[in-house]
Amino acid sequence: MKQKYILAIDQGTTSSRCILFNKNGQPYATSQKEFKQIFPQPGWVEHDPIEIWNSVQNVIAGVLIEGDVQPSEIAAIGITNQRETTVLWDKQTGEPVYHAIVWQSKQSSSVADEWKALGYEALIKEKTGLPIDSYFSATKIKWLFDHHPSIKKRAENGELLFGTIDTWLLWKLTEGKSHKTDYTNASRTMLFNIHELTWDQELLDLFGIPRCLLPEVCSNTEIFGYTDDYLFYGQKIPIAGMAGDQQAALIGQGAFEKGTVKNTYGTGAFILMNTGTQPIISTNGLLTTIGYAIGGEVTYALEGSIFVAGSAIQWLRDGLKLIDDAQDTEIAAGSVTDSHQIYVVPAFTGLGAPYWDQEARGAIFGITRGTTKEQLIRGTLESLAYQTCDVVRTMAQDANLPISLLKADGGASKNNFLMQFQADMLQTTVKRPLFLETTALGVAYLAGIATGFWADFDQMKEISAQVETFEPQMSPEVSANLYEGWQEAVEATMHFKH
Ligand code: G3P
Repeated sequence: MKQKYILAIDQGTTSSRCILFNKNGQPYATSQKEFKQIFPQPGWVEHDPIEIWNSVQNVIAGVLIEGDVQPSEIAAIGITNQRETTVLWDKQTGEPVYHAIVWQSKQSSSVADEWKALGYEALIKEKTGLPIDSYFSATKIKWLFDHHPSIKKRAENGELLFGTIDTWLLWKLTEGKSHKTDYTNASRTMLFNIHELTWDQELLDLFGIPRCLLPEVCSNTEIFGYTDDYLFYGQKIPIAGMAGDQQAALIGQGAFEKGTVKNTYGTGAFILMNTGTQPIISTNGLLTTIGYAIGGEVTYALEGSIFVAGSAIQWLRDGLKLIDDAQDTEIAAGSVTDSHQIYVVPAFTGLGAPYWDQEARGAIFGITRGTTKEQLIRGTLESLAYQTCDVVRTMAQDANLPISLLKADGGASKNNFLMQFQADMLQTTVKRPLFLETTALGVAYLAGIATGFWADFDQMKEISAQVETFEPQMSPEVSANLYEGWQEAVEATMHFKH
């Protein structure tokens, strides 16, 4: 039977998705499933790795049924994933030893504080490009070791394996045959030397993490293994592309040129700038990370990670119950005509780039007796744009490159009010592709190229070049004045520690 499709798995923080792409790079069938968020203590976020795997099996079955597609029609599989989230499992039984500790989770803050106090910051930054923060996998592994000595012992005995979600899914799909990751995911662990492109032994020794726990690191587009699973009726389908979701979006946006910047407004918002073949070490709190490794060449990126973006809109919906649907925010925000300015600083789990304040918590400024729910909604939406401005301004400074265009994607980018306000605040053009699933598109092409399904990225670039454009409409003076208010609000938020 002719192989007609690439299957892209996009395992995100709140849901797993699967998209089948046809030869023209068009989505043919889609399936999505949410799964449980576990909050054992304030600030902690965990997932059940088995539930994640089940949700992925579910969405794979979903697209096969929806598209009436046989496994033999699938040329290759690509996996893209929430990054940093940490899973440890028994290499014989496949049983996870603990929940997956999610990238947002704060339980390893004490480990991060300890490493800062020990003066490791400069060394870690130099080797990994990352600041010390509970965000990154190394702190999560160390937390598991510190709080569960039996896990540490089993890891040292070589009984366990570590993986971010890409690795966990690959291992499951190949029935334990492939324990691998890719450069982009490895670069988020705080254990990977982004210059030497290898796990860093000095850091492993410093943190007490055994080397045998770690997966083999590969480029983004190569054969990682073959399915060996009843889901595909024994069909050996190559898993031929893997990348962290934000890097996959960079690729899916066609951001191959140095200086190109994309922002994915998902649960968090992740702004990445392609900085070419040289890593730029930020002096202002941005991360240096691997953008992609294709065709034997590594491209680096600067990244600003914003922890709370779309999840602030979820908070309006599920926490405050101010809206029924995320889309309601566009009309509500647009209905506010007076100039009364509310600033919402959604530092629910601390502040990411460029502030890196793990203790900060959310705040709202400027409330009066006359404040309406629409103003609160608008202020929350605006906070996504203000946080993006913080990062983009810092990026331009660090890279010493002017930024004249922001490529937007992700769920919240559907919101026209947000896109317009973003263009106004940046005083820069914002472009949003018509096909918003850039993450899945990017990893599908990685898998398709490794297997010869596609010859190059040209068709994908054409797809991502179909965009809607938002140009600044606000005067530079008004924009600067609003932004000044935001900066004051952030400063006051960071000042408040109780
Ligand atoms: O670094 C975390 C990021 O990869 C999570 O992305 O889309 O699941 O919120 P998302």
